[in-house]
Amino acid sequence: MQHHRITDAELEQVIRFFQAESGIRLSSQKKSLICGRLNIRLNALNIDCYQQYLTFIRQPAHAAEKQLAIDLLTTNETYFYREPKHFEFLDRLFTSWREGRPPAIWSAACSSGEEPFTLSMLMYEHFESRPWKILASDLSQRMLSTAEKGIYPLTRAKELPEAWLKKYCLKGQGDYDGYLKIQGFLQEKVDFRQINLSRPLPLENAFDIIFLRNVLIYFDPEAKERLIRTLLQHLKGSGLLILGHSESLNGMNLPLKAIQPSIYQKAIQHGEH
Ligand SMILES: C[S@@+](CC[C@H](N)C(=O)[O-])C[C@H]1O[C@@H](n2cnc3c(N)ncnc32)[C@H](O)[C@@H]1O
Repeated sequence: MQHHRITDAELEQVIRFFQAESGIRLSSQKKSLICGRLNIRLNALNIDCYQQYLTFIRQPAHAAEKQLAIDLLTTNETYFYREPKHFEFLDRLFTSWREGRPPAIWSAACSSGEEPFTLSMLMYEHFESRPWKILASDLSQRMLSTAEKGIYPLTRAKELPEAWLKKYCLKGQGDYDGYLKIQGFLQEKVDFRQINLSRPLPLENAFDIIFLRNVLIYFDPEAKERLIRTLLQHLKGSGLLILGHSESLNGMNLPLKAIQPSIYQKAIQHGEH
């Protein structure tokens, strides 16, 4: 395989391209990661340099290649029952919610789907097959295709309670040894959609709970605040916004109250119930 060198100017252009598309500014220190991921596409397309590749993906006819480049540059690490405190918190909350309408939840950067499926297991524990759905979205089409299949290596479920693994997942056999499959009745409860959080949101409804975990860390402070303000328009009064443990909204003047580290509640606006 040919290894293509990237100039500093080309690196900056790749960084700017990805920032314009995703809102995330990659550090130039990630040069080897960026090249490692894109080099394979230059080879596949027989393109000689990054400059040419950038020109190629900017052409409307090559939108699919552009999406592939975006997919390759996103960081998608995730697993089932990640950051258990959030699920424990919701477990307590849902116990007192049981009689009411099941909450509307959006997992807004769901990667390959482990987060919304963990949430759907928790929802099922409390609300069973009553009418409820979880919206799960991501920028990466590649991740969404994986999520839609609902097949995962068992190693991604190390943190998942054993009882949930048995109840909600099928164990793979033969070729699928070492894999799990999400049960059909649970898969039906999650709707996957491609949504770019850096663009106007194609949503009309509001949610009781929005998960926005482990994606803000890549946004600069301005883009971060802009995104939170947009998301707030889709969060009901007293609804919850849940961020990753290493993320915070410190220094922003927002109608949100921290009720636990990384769990925020929206203030009820005038005229809202
Ligand atoms: C590290 S994963 C987090 C997955 C999951 N929320 C968790 O905490 O385990 C970050 C995800 O954010 C997605 N992402 C990055 N920029 C985005 C954008 N502008 N709009 C939507 N999703 C984005 C990436 O594709 C990636 O799947």
